[in-house]
Amino acid sequence: MNNKIILITGGAGFIGSNFVHQWSKHSAKTIVLDALTYAGNRATLADLESQANFSLIEGDICDAQLVSQILAEHHVDTLIHFAAESHVDRSIAGPAAFVQTNVVGTFTLLEAFRHHWEAQGKPDHYRFLHVSTDEVFGSLGPNDPAFSEVTSYAPNSPYSASKAGSDHLVRAYFHTYGLPTLITNCSNNYGPYQFPEKLIPLMCLNILLGKSLPVYGDGQNIRDWLHVEDHCSAIATVLGQAQPGETYNIGGNNQVKNIDIVEQLCDLMDELAENLPVSPARKLITFVPDRPGHDRRYAMDITKIRNDLGWQPSYDFATGLRQTVGWYLDNRDWWQPLLSEDYQRYYSELYAERMALD
Ligand code: NAD
Ligand code: TYD
Repeated sequence: MNNKIILITGGAGFIGSNFVHQWSKHSAKTIVLDALTYAGNRATLADLESQANFSLIEGDICDAQLVSQILAEHHVDTLIHFAAESHVDRSIAGPAAFVQTNVVGTFTLLEAFRHHWEAQGKPDHYRFLHVSTDEVFGSLGPNDPAFSEVTSYAPNSPYSASKAGSDHLVRAYFHTYGLPTLITNCSNNYGPYQFPEKLIPLMCLNILLGKSLPVYGDGQNIRDWLHVEDHCSAIATVLGQAQPGETYNIGGNNQVKNIDIVEQLCDLMDELAENLPVSPARKLITFVPDRPGHDRRYAMDITKIRNDLGWQPSYDFATGLRQTVGWYLDNRDWWQPLLSEDYQRYYSELYAERMALD
């Protein structure tokens, strides 16, 4: 990362902001481009805004002129692409934004970066790192082997289909133009600064507010959970060491059923939070009708990144989950403003069909 001038798209979101906090001190200059959608939060980066080697630009990755201008003005040599519409439930309710940002936006960045790279004489050290997801591989049965880098793509939701489309474009830019691209596909992340709509923060905040805990279907769906700091260290490792054109799977070797996570969160909250409105918190667990097309199981085979690059996760899940619950308890000022009228509307629309809201 040393001496790199890095453009980070989506750096005001969950994973992007963790990456900026963890890694921007190692780069010569970090520029964040973020549209500050509902999921992007300027406050998350407030501690960095006064630093000379950091800037946050509010703008859309689909704005080709803006992207080209940033690349040229700042002499960017490295682009790490986190920006996306990222929530499966929202992609079911409104897929158009997912195609726009995830497909058209990624295409816009690739084109701008290609022209910039060509104009500079195709320097060897330039990199375009595309951050993607395990969801592009579809759903596993109980005894299927974990996804590897050669597993066929089989996306099932508008979110995962749009991410798959973006991965294919990145791959094509390497093969067709020789653009020095990298792709990482990672499993579900958890940790500080995750927007309240996602499973773990949603359950934490509902427990604090005494609201029902909506578990989709039978709660037996499995995700491979990874602490966000481990994801960020994997991205930095791939950026520093991988050969252009490579793809790496990243995961936690940590397959957990949704219902087990929700129960663990209830127990942690009972232990760590004071004066919960409903205790024990498990009384709030409510099974609700399933998400349409809900993938049953994800799991990542991380042999390649471990063997080639020496990366492996450092957090164990019990420690990471406890730290995350503690972070949401200690950072009410960060999440309270996010429970806005817009968010309440989203919540009611999504969950009213599934359960009697409290
Ligand atoms: P997030 O929703 O928390 O953040 C997305 C960020 O992108 C926000 O800051 C938002 O304002 C910004 N953004 C959205 N549309 C934009 C646009 N058109 N132009 C500029 N900025 C825009 O998402 P996240 O969970 O941090 O995920 C980051 C990336 O990692 C995504 O590409 C996602 O697909 C991928 N990923 C996420 C997970 C996970 O568990 N969260 C796992 C694997 C991969
Ligand atoms: P989520 O955090 O939305 O991530 P993803 O769908 O990308 O895996 O959901 C994680 C799992 O939790 C997923 O199987 C859906 C489930 N889930 C619930 O059971 N209830 C909820 O309210 C939410 C948001 C998710």
